[in-house]
Amino acid sequence: MKFFIDTANLEEIKEAKAMGILSGVTTNPSLVAKENISFHDRLREITDIVKDSVSAEVVSLKAEEMIEEGKELAKIAPNITVKVPMTPDGLKAVKEFSELGIKTNVTLIFSANQALLAARAGATYVSPFLGRLDDIGQDGMDLIATISEIFDLHGLDTEIIAASIRHPMHVTDAALNGAHIATIPLKVIHQLFKHPLTDQGIEKFLSDWNNRAQQ
Ligand code: E4P
Repeated sequence: MKFFIDTANLEEIKEAKAMGILSGVTTNPSLVAKENISFHDRLREITDIVKDSVSAEVVSLKAEEMIEEGKELAKIAPNITVKVPMTPDGLKAVKEFSELGIKTNVTLIFSANQALLAARAGATYVSPFLGRLDDIGQDGMDLIATISEIFDLHGLDTEIIAASIRHPMHVTDAALNGAHIATIPLKVIHQLFKHPLTDQGIEKFLSDWNNRAQQ
């Protein structure tokens, strides 16, 4: 499973890239709104830093408008992935983008049937939202497992991005259940590194080293 970062913040993206683990970026309108910047300018900055997939979401709801919007986004850089909501209009746009060779990420996936529809429309990625399902008392991880099984069974090459990740166990379980990618906020990426025994081990090694008998 690969790691994407879920943010539109440039400093966070640079920090995750410097860790050597970053394979892509996802943004959404809420994340972009927090930044108070021009969306296209920010995408230019992000795609200068990250050469793998950078998801940029359309805000239109009609297929024709999504297609125009997505074509403009795709002109920004070759690694832009157009993110489209899971609606009939969204999938109409996905079909068109797929014929034009533009990569797509179908977002706001909450059921296996939605994922299957998106894959059949030609989506490059589907994004099931784990945290938001957990928030309403449904098991987000079951959804990842089911989508993964269906895609394997039917030979679909659409990749699964585990989205709406809230804590480290989401990451482990998404990997175990067949997600190809997890898109993770920086705060959770930091948590993935941490283990108290690692900290204690470093402290002990350094204290033993500093107290060694001098030759
Ligand atoms: C994914 O592409 C979305 O941007 C994101 O994971 C949504 O997460 P949230 O439910 O924490 O807003």
